[in-house]
Formats: sequence, C-alpha cells, structure tokens
Amino acid sequence: MKKFHVTFQPAGRRGEIAAGKTIIEASRELGVELESSCGGRRSCGKCRVRIAKGNLAAAGPPPPSEPLSPFQEGEGKFIGAEERAAGDRLACAAQIQGDVAIFVPEESRGGRQVVRKGAAEKSFALKPAVVLHLVSLAAPTFQDPRGDFERLKSVLVQTHNLPATLTIDYHALRRLPAALREGKWQVTVATWMEKEIIAVEPGMAESGVYVLAVDIGTTSVAAYLCHLPSGRLIATETMMNPQVAYGEDVMSRISYGMTHPEGLETLHRSLIEGLNRLLETLTAKCGISSQAILEMAMVGNPAMHHLFLGIRPDYLGLSPFPPAIHQAVNIKARDLGLQIHPGANVHCLPLEAGFVGADTVGVLIAERPHRQQQMALIIDVGTNGELVLGNREKLLATSCATGPALEGAHITFGLRAAPGAIEGIRIDRETWDVSFKVIGRDTWSRDATSPTAKGICGSGIIDGVAELFRTGAIDGRGRFASNLPSPRFRTNGGSPEFVIAWQRETALEKDITITQGDVRNVQLAKAALYTGAKLMMRRLGITRVDKVVLAGAFGSYINPRSALILGMFPDCDLKKVSAVGNAAGDGARIALLNRDRRREAERIAARVEYLELTVEPDFQQEFMDAMYLPHKKDLFPHLGGIMGRDIPSRK
Ligand code: FES
Repeated sequence: MKKFHVTFQPAGRRGEIAAGKTIIEASRELGVELESSCGGRRSCGKCRVRIAKGNLAAAGPPPPSEPLSPFQEGEGKFIGAEERAAGDRLACAAQIQGDVAIFVPEESRGGRQVVRKGAAEKSFALKPAVVLHLVSLAAPTFQDPRGDFERLKSVLVQTHNLPATLTIDYHALRRLPAALREGKWQVTVATWMEKEIIAVEPGMAESGVYVLAVDIGTTSVAAYLCHLPSGRLIATETMMNPQVAYGEDVMSRISYGMTHPEGLETLHRSLIEGLNRLLETLTAKCGISSQAILEMAMVGNPAMHHLFLGIRPDYLGLSPFPPAIHQAVNIKARDLGLQIHPGANVHCLPLEAGFVGADTVGVLIAERPHRQQQMALIIDVGTNGELVLGNREKLLATSCATGPALEGAHITFGLRAAPGAIEGIRIDRETWDVSFKVIGRDTWSRDATSPTAKGICGSGIIDGVAELFRTGAIDGRGRFASNLPSPRFRTNGGSPEFVIAWQRETALEKDITITQGDVRNVQLAKAALYTGAKLMMRRLGITRVDKVVLAGAFGSYINPRSALILGMFPDCDLKKVSAVGNAAGDGARIALLNRDRRREAERIAARVEYLELTVEPDFQQEFMDAMYLPHKKDLFPHLGGIMGRDIPSRK
C-alpha cells in the first residue's frame, strides 16, 4: 500500500501513513491528540487543522487540497472561504494522498484532561470476596495417596469452614503441585466468594494481596487499589478513557462501533489496553506486581459496561434500550486480557435499565438513599445525566441526554477540563468586569501574570451563563439584553455574544466569548436535567426534595449556586445541596470490599423503577418550560437572596 510522509506541528511528530487514511486516523497512529467531540461524524468542527504553509503552492487557491482529498461540502459548515484558502480542513474528513505537514491549532489540541475522581472517606464493614487462608497440610503417603487438590480441599473444608463444593481455578490447579512442595506443605490459598480457589502460593504470605475498583466513565477512568486483608485504599490512578478518540459521547461511540467493520473490537481493545497501561503505572507507583491483584470490581454506564466486556452496545441505542444482561457479571480477568492475576475475577455491578447503568448502582450503594427517610435527588452529571429520586419507600431512576455542553463540548470555546480551561467566572453587575479562574492556576484572572485561557470547560460555562443571567445580561428566555454599556457586549455575524476573556488574556489569537448559541446549549442541557427531576417528582407525588446530591467527577465541580440560578434542579436550600465526588467509584470500592453490598446492589438494581422520560405525555411541554432560567412557572424561593433582584423569567 502506498504511504506518505506526514508531519504534525507543533508537536513535531512524523511518520509514514497509508494513503486514504484521514488526518485524524494519522494523528492517532502518530500519537498526536486531536479534539474530536463528535467522533469523526463531521458535526462538531473541533478537529479543524491547517495545512502547514510549506504545502501551499506559491500562488492562488486551491492547492491546499493537493496532498489531501478534495474539500467536502460538510466541511464548509465550519470552515469559511477565507479559512479554506488558508488551508483549513476538518481532520476527520480530509484523507492523506500525498506528503503533508499539518499544523494543529491550540483549540484543536486534545489537552490531557484533568481527571478529578478522588476517593471519598466511607466507612463500611470489611467482608471481601477474596479471602486468604494460611494452610498447613500433611504430605501424601502410600496410606494417603489423595490428589493435591483433594488433600488441600479437605483441610479447607474441615478447618476453614469452606463448603465441600469448593472448586479450583485452572491456573491455580496448574500452580498447585509445585506450590505445595516449594512451601513444604505450607501454602497461602486465596478463595473467591467461598466458591473457588483462585491462587495458591508457597509459604505463609505476610504482606497480603490487592484488589482493584474501576469506574469506567465515558470520558475518564478512575482506579482505586486496595490492600487485603486490611481493606486500606493504597493508591488512586486516573486516565482519559482511550475510547474518547472514537467519539466523546455514548452515541458517537455506539455509532463508531456500528459503522466500522472492526469498530467493536477497536473500542474494546483500546479500553483494555488503556486499563493495562493504567495498571502498569499504578503498580509501579506502589512497588507491587500486577499479579498480586486478585480481584477487580467495575462500574460504568451500560455502553461502557458492554464495550468493556466486548458486547455489542448497538441495541442499547434502540428503544426500548435493553442491555445484554441486567444482573451482575463475574468473568475471569484473563478472558478480557487484563494483566492482573490470571485466576482473578472481574465483578461488574448490575445494570438498571435504559441508559442507567452499573455506575448509578454504584452511586446507590455508596449513598444509600434506600435506607433514608429524607427524599433525596441524586444527579450524576456526566456526559449523560443520570438521576435517582427516592427514599426508603421508593426509588426512581432516569437518564437524560444532557448533551455534551455541560462538559464543554458543543460550546464555541468549549474545552474539556484540561489545563487552560476556564472553570469559574464572575461578572460585576456595575462595571461588567469579568474575572475568571483557569485550571492549573491558583489565582483568578485579575491576579494572573500571563495569558493562559484556552477555552471554557463545563463548570466554567455553567458559571458563565448563570452570571450572565444573575447580572441581567440575558433574560429568562436566555436572550441577550440590547444596548448594555460595555464593549464586552457585541454581535458576531448578527448574533450577540459576551466577551469573557480578551485576546491578551488568552493563549489563543482571539477573544473567548459566550455566544447566544452557547447559552441555548446550556439551556437545553439544564432543561433535560430539570425535566427529568420534575417528572420523577411528579411520579412520586412530591413537590419538593429534602436534599440534592451532585455526584460524578464533573458534578463535584459544579458550583451549586450557579446550578440553582440556572434551574438545573428544582428549588432547594443550598445548605442541602452537596457534592459527593465520584460516588460511582466509591460504590465499586464498597462492592469490592464487602460482598454483602454486592447482594444489596443486585436487590436495589432490581427494585429501582425506571422512568422513560420521552414517553411521558407532557414531556415536551415540561421541557419547554424548563428551558427558561430558572423556570417558566416553578418558583425558586431560595434564589431570592442570591439574585439580589427580581427573577425576570416570568415578566
Ligand atoms: S468534525 Fe471532525 S471530529 Fe467532529
């Protein structure tokens, strides 16, 4: 196959790429990170690159297309005539057909996401599935020539209270004869769920073993390494979900899996390989062998769950959205290619229904609303919004397509939560001065000494739009006011926008703004969450909730005050709104270390009633009302003191 020389600047990565590959495919091969919010469906425009000047002929357009396939109609949606003449292309559309040097502008560079998934302090009883037994047994004789396994099992049954149905894993069986003799008939045996011997090592192990909880999010993955028998959390490691390269949301990944011949395998392998890399880092950091990890517990939404297991997720995207399996799955790590102990088991928590998955079950066993009298609304704000409402009487769950706006995608200057992203915004109502906080810097912009902002991430856009509303720059419908006395208000192509950061304050060659379209996208996302909460409340016959819990790596960074100003959830005393961090990961850790909680997870997953929002009769009307800031009709008494003025939505 013909190959061409491709160079990416400013990274300076170069290599030979087969003819016909797209620039985005070439970037993956050469290890250059490019933004690709829509997974290469040419609908986000985030993957724009520029053919480096050397590729352009001395005079006149259209030489940019020479080393690349011709400019396509879909590209014109994002690339104007002038930019096209300068050599701009969408990396997911342009195919390599000659030697080419490609410049990746700042805004298209896939920054390494700051994955914020710390583990919370949780107290729970220790009752792990993996238990170590120190066993001494008699050597075989002519009078007692039983097999090694039978000899070991009889001691485990008689003196360790294990059942007579105990079995042994194939790899443990292979290891058994040598281990017994090397240990001079003293061994450490690891059993799983009192059902199976999964590992045998000579001698009496003093140092214990390890188990791992993994939360596979659509965007990021967090792993928690725990020690046994102490149950102590030893280390946490996070990474971007490597599947992000194939689409940033669940639907674009499902679509990638369906439309590419090896799509499912590519997505599955990329995740497993990513997890193996994460394991390497984690075990190196702790100075242990990955073979000492004897179990893994996993949570994730249904699509991540299926892709982790290599199961086609296609039907999850089709009404009535059935998963391949609801109940918990136990599978050998070796069957998945995970490089932990070959006898280790992977426990995937059960799925609920629709798009509500094992991650929500994890949130439930961590937060346990089913054991409380208070009516709790739990919102897991990820790339998909998952909501649970209820108490010990009843639990309802739903999921809603919040869209990627709350994570910074489909926003004009949207950026993932990477260094350089604006994560907090304040606007002065008198002067219209703006101060902002950028990830990676401790100070707010007024104190910053050099330009740093590259875009706005999810918590930043929520803050920004809430501040625009609080200050009266936009009304309840989300429309910009006219004639406000500041150069920050302006129109661009006939549409109003507000300047958050002037060019001199940014790492870009332009001002960073919030546009009318951005406000609209935030309204759509918040309306989806609010409608979900409202319809669930109606189903339970309640008009208020006792508390709101914001969960999820991203949810924890949302400013609750800004979320209330926007009406992301029904009115609630801010003192009763809490951010609990990555509750799904906490749930995985709890299930890992307490097998009773696995049973609780199964019971709760089966008990939670799923509410399919889109078939609710007045879903559309409720959604339209929730598009208002904070809402067209519903009252927000707790906003009074925060807004410092009348709420204009009902004027
Ligand atoms: S337009 Fe190319 S990745 Fe979205």
